[in-house]
Amino acid sequence: MASSSAPLLLLLLFATLAALASADAAACSAGDRDALLSIRAALSEARLGVFSSWKQGGDCCGGGWYGVSCDPSTGRVADLTLRGEAEDAVMAPAGRPASGVMSGYISDAVCRLDRLSTLVLADWKQISGGIPSCLASDLPYLRILELPGNRISGEIPSSIGTLSRLTVLNLADNLISGEIPNSITTLSSLKHLDLTNNQLTGRIPAGIGSLSMLSRALLGRNKLSGEIPASVGSLTRLADLDLAENQLIGGIPENLGDAHVLTSLYLGSNRISGRIPASLLRNKGLGILNLSRNAVEGAIPDVFTGESYFMVLDLSRNRLTGAVPRSLSSAAYVGHLDLSHNRLCGSIPAGPPFDHLDAASFASNSCLCGGPLGKCT
Ligand SMILES: *[C@@H]1O[C@H](CO)[C@@H](O)[C@H](O)[C@H]1NC(C)=O
Repeated sequence: MASSSAPLLLLLLFATLAALASADAAACSAGDRDALLSIRAALSEARLGVFSSWKQGGDCCGGGWYGVSCDPSTGRVADLTLRGEAEDAVMAPAGRPASGVMSGYISDAVCRLDRLSTLVLADWKQISGGIPSCLASDLPYLRILELPGNRISGEIPSSIGTLSRLTVLNLADNLISGEIPNSITTLSSLKHLDLTNNQLTGRIPAGIGSLSMLSRALLGRNKLSGEIPASVGSLTRLADLDLAENQLIGGIPENLGDAHVLTSLYLGSNRISGRIPASLLRNKGLGILNLSRNAVEGAIPDVFTGESYFMVLDLSRNRLTGAVPRSLSSAAYVGHLDLSHNRLCGSIPAGPPFDHLDAASFASNSCLCGGPLGKCT
């Protein structure tokens, strides 16, 4: 009895080993393949043929599916990246950047790729519909979510805050409306937040200062209202802050200038009032400061130093009074200076940073003279 079942056991053992070996080769799971094919079915792209390699019954991991990569240890799809403005050799064989158009919507099937760490569907211009809300609950490994340059509408899922590994959230250049969910402030790994050029309303979440890893916060060209939360000043890694072209009111947070790595600050075209914090102009790393088209008042703090280096210093179209600060003439570099359309008065200081500037930089003030405006009488 025992001897007759031995060959059968061996056969079973071999079958098991063979199955394990093929799993090692990380062929894609049937579930992932089905999910990808459902995603494909909801989208259409003709010009570049990005989906031509996605075949029924094919191996989505080892089979050269364009834009799909798997984790070799799990054999599960980890990365789905399709860019409509691609410079890679596959999509742009002639070395010219390829420009594609994709329409359709992002299927909920994406939420079945539950080991996904990167989801990029960028610059396809015509992808519409909403952001599947199941993303937040079903894709706990998601690190990068980039859907810019489409026609995505609806709101940012309110549960977005559950994506605790998220480092990049880029939804720029879409038609997204509603408020920025408060839960965004719990994304403790978030480094890059880009929601530029959408239709977002309401306030910037007050708790944004708790995103301690945040280095770029780009929220310009929306319809955000209320004040700039004071807590942005506690973002110690913040390098780029763009809140331009919204409907923000109130003052510039006093401690914003203390952010040590702040490189660019765009607050233009809002309704910001109050004074320019001296700490901001004293900040050595700040290379771009644009406060144009607001209601900023008072004198420009006279705190520039030999380490001040401004590619852009645009304070035009405000209610600034007093003189052009003397210390600005000691700045290491001022590339583009615009102080026009304010209420400044007095003589423009002489010095190298001013040598290349023309009258337009100082036009329409109360009583400026000297430099490119001609002699003071
Ligand atoms: C400053 O911002 C305003 C409003 O966003 C914009 O119109 C202007 O061109 C910017 N200035 C510079 C020098 O980029």
